[in-house]
Amino acid sequence: MTDPNENNKNNSIERQIKSSQDGQDSYGIGGPARGAAFYRSIHVDLYSAVRFCLTTNINKEAIEQIVERVVQAFQENPFNDLLFLAYADAKEDYLSVHITSDVIFSVAFGVNLGLSRSDVMDIAVCAFCHDFGMADYLSLFQKTTKLTAEENILIQKHPQKSAEIFKPFFSDKIINAVIDIHEQFDGNGYPMRKAGIEISTIGKIVAICDAFVALTHSRKYRKAFSPYESIKMIIKQKDIIFDPKILKKFINFLSIYPIGSLVYLNTGETAIIVGSNPNKPTRSIVRILLNIKREVDRSNRLINLLDDPMLYIRGCVDSTEEAEILHFLKPRGENEIS
Ligand SMILES: [Fe+2]
Repeated sequence: MTDPNENNKNNSIERQIKSSQDGQDSYGIGGPARGAAFYRSIHVDLYSAVRFCLTTNINKEAIEQIVERVVQAFQENPFNDLLFLAYADAKEDYLSVHITSDVIFSVAFGVNLGLSRSDVMDIAVCAFCHDFGMADYLSLFQKTTKLTAEENILIQKHPQKSAEIFKPFFSDKIINAVIDIHEQFDGNGYPMRKAGIEISTIGKIVAICDAFVALTHSRKYRKAFSPYESIKMIIKQKDIIFDPKILKKFINFLSIYPIGSLVYLNTGETAIIVGSNPNKPTRSIVRILLNIKREVDRSNRLINLLDDPMLYIRGCVDSTEEAEILHFLKPRGENEIS
């Protein structure tokens, strides 16, 4: 079994580097300090459960056990390392990595919404199940040229295929939400062309996380977009694909510079967004990475921008600059992952 983290050569590494800096326990803001290894083991076990169910057979108990661990991790610590690991890009086995990241973001969003544990569990299972039907269309999924009309009709069968696979195992509430993932708020989605309130809330919650995960991961035909570029594209689909209420909550959860973004502060320092503050989408919680001389800042300073009105985010590091910063960090080798 390949560890998804070993495959990545792009933007997830720098997030892992920062999350496993020497002696650094974990990103944890609040909650018990669990350590990077704790979250990495949940990430690897979730990925393994997805791969097992995709390649062998559906194991309901194993699914419920692993999503329970993900839910527990976020209820303990709403902004933990799993969010950074969920940016892991796949060199191969795109579908398993995609589903793994969908579960993580959907659970984190569900917990951020303050939903009950059983509702968050339903969201997690829905995110786990919804793209299994895509396994029949992997060649189309990774096609580098535009899909033909026939191919589009085919690939749009995947939600119902996923529902057929999991109907014997999970509730109608979850299975109906699985079918809703690609419905659009304006009624132009598939498979049922449902609109507005006809679409289940679980379906809407997983749908926006699924879109964010898809955009922040590379495909054969395009590079990954940065979290900031991705959330801007999602905002453009307000009232079209996404329910405006759910979208507003999603921005509140991730913030305008989404968790995982590299940003420049007005001090000239470079930081990473590690958490958000309710109803303050631009006043997030940051960890300082580079000082004003662009040297690695080893203090691991965590700053809540709400506490310091003089400090603000001057701008986002775009994906090209991000790679440069990554390159800048590496030569020193101080922050290599063990
Ligand atoms: Fe899908």
